Amino acid sequence: MRNYIETPAAELEANRLCAKRINEQISPLGLKYHIEAYGCQMNGHDSERIAGMLVECGFTKCDDKASADFIIFNTCCVRDHAEQRVFGNVGALKALKDANPRLIIAVCGCMMQQEKVSRHLYKRFPYVDIIFGTNELHRLPTMIEAALMGERTLMVRNIDGEVTEGIPILRNGTFSTNVNIMFGCNNFCSYCIVPYVRGRERSRSFERIFSEVEDVAKCGFSEITLLGQNVNSYCSPESGMKFPALLDKISGIDGIERIRFMTSHPKDLSDELIEVMATNDKVCKHIHLPVQSGSTRILEQMNRRYSREHYLELVGKLRQRVQDIEITTDIIVGFPGETEEDFNQTLSLVREVGFSAAFTFMYSPRPGTKAASMPNQIDPAEKKRRLLALNAVEAEMLKTNNQKFIGKVGKVLVEGFDVRDGQYFMNGRLSNFKSVYFPFDADEAAVRGMVGKTVDVNIVDTTNNSLIGELNG
Ligand code: SAH
Ligand code: SF4
Ligand code: F3S
Repeated sequence: MRNYIETPAAELEANRLCAKRINEQISPLGLKYHIEAYGCQMNGHDSERIAGMLVECGFTKCDDKASADFIIFNTCCVRDHAEQRVFGNVGALKALKDANPRLIIAVCGCMMQQEKVSRHLYKRFPYVDIIFGTNELHRLPTMIEAALMGERTLMVRNIDGEVTEGIPILRNGTFSTNVNIMFGCNNFCSYCIVPYVRGRERSRSFERIFSEVEDVAKCGFSEITLLGQNVNSYCSPESGMKFPALLDKISGIDGIERIRFMTSHPKDLSDELIEVMATNDKVCKHIHLPVQSGSTRILEQMNRRYSREHYLELVGKLRQRVQDIEITTDIIVGFPGETEEDFNQTLSLVREVGFSAAFTFMYSPRPGTKAASMPNQIDPAEKKRRLLALNAVEAEMLKTNNQKFIGKVGKVLVEGFDVRDGQYFMNGRLSNFKSVYFPFDADEAAVRGMVGKTVDVNIVDTTNNSLIGELNG
């Protein structure tokens, strides 16, 4: 059943040994690293692996680029805007390299997996030491060792993707964390570059996922987010176990209180998943279900393999079965050939569904994707107009929808706090992903102690995106 190979253990071991050697060499020097991450949660999670390897190599973290001895950009290429920023930011590092000749500069991630782009970057910025794609993450120590000896590396392998287990992970946060359940994507939505830069879909072994969640639970993490480009098509390579069963199994792990997941593709959302969401208290009452467009004609062109009606039917089922569920989404405006009528269908769908958040994007042509060469590309000014119109409708919907929470009591997992006019405000989320703020009168130690706790909060007011509450009791 397994349709991929795991990265050979010997290769991982060689890199671990390499990290050890680097550690011996550099730890007396007190060198610092700085990671700049772009893109989705999966890229963010890869950055935690990069941090894990850098710490093994003997670097310590620093937030300030100017005092770093190792700077790495973990890039995204899902839209053009992200790419432009990377070129600008890499260009700006020249001055730092001149000031600190031992500075090592690395660029990795999805954007670098496009060989044309990585070769161009390699030529254009001779002071960049290390460039690698999405299949080479575990080889970072080897590339650093070469850089310490003055060698440049450009490593982008066009393999369909292995699954690499056992890279050390330095997790951000203390009670909430991410766990990959799968890598890559097979869907080839016509606008999307992800399948080209992340390779074919591969599910991780159930045993590996389970023991990772057990480990993080032992370290005190109580909320986990299971990550994959399309979690609903998870299929264990050993047993064929599907996503709903995986959720059920993981919910049995001691210490895990909340389970989130993303992203769900509507075409693969099963009744079994809805059932687990309805019946398992640990599975959060929230689903991120990207619709992309409200027009069936455009959905077909996007190769999404569901219609407007099918999507609305799913929303109906979710709402009927899963009490208090909230739905968030992604939407693209200005896909090639999108008419005013198509766009109006998107607006009407947003009104009909009442999303509790919508991430909205202007279509950005991506090299090598089918939609990039479709006729009737939409003028950028028109895309912008549609984006603003869509955002206005979403904002109006949010305002109305938020009202329904007033007067209710919700369980908030406290994530952090800030101080406004001398008053502490705690922030956190309900199970349904709505974010909540509430004032808290206590000293700083008690405020810090509150982070990671789950408390009852009376919802008394709303802002544009969030709810305002008062601690209950
Ligand atoms: N796997 C996830 C999404 C990954 S990309 C899913 O299928 O839902 C995140 C979002 O970026 C997508 O949902 C889409 O809305 C947006 N996106 C992807 N490619 C894009 C492009 N070429 N132009 C604009 N937005 C894009
Ligand atoms: Fe891209 Fe579609 Fe795959 Fe999501 S499901 S990553 S949008 S190809
Ligand atoms: Fe994520 Fe961007 Fe890559 S959205 S998978 S980092 S192209």
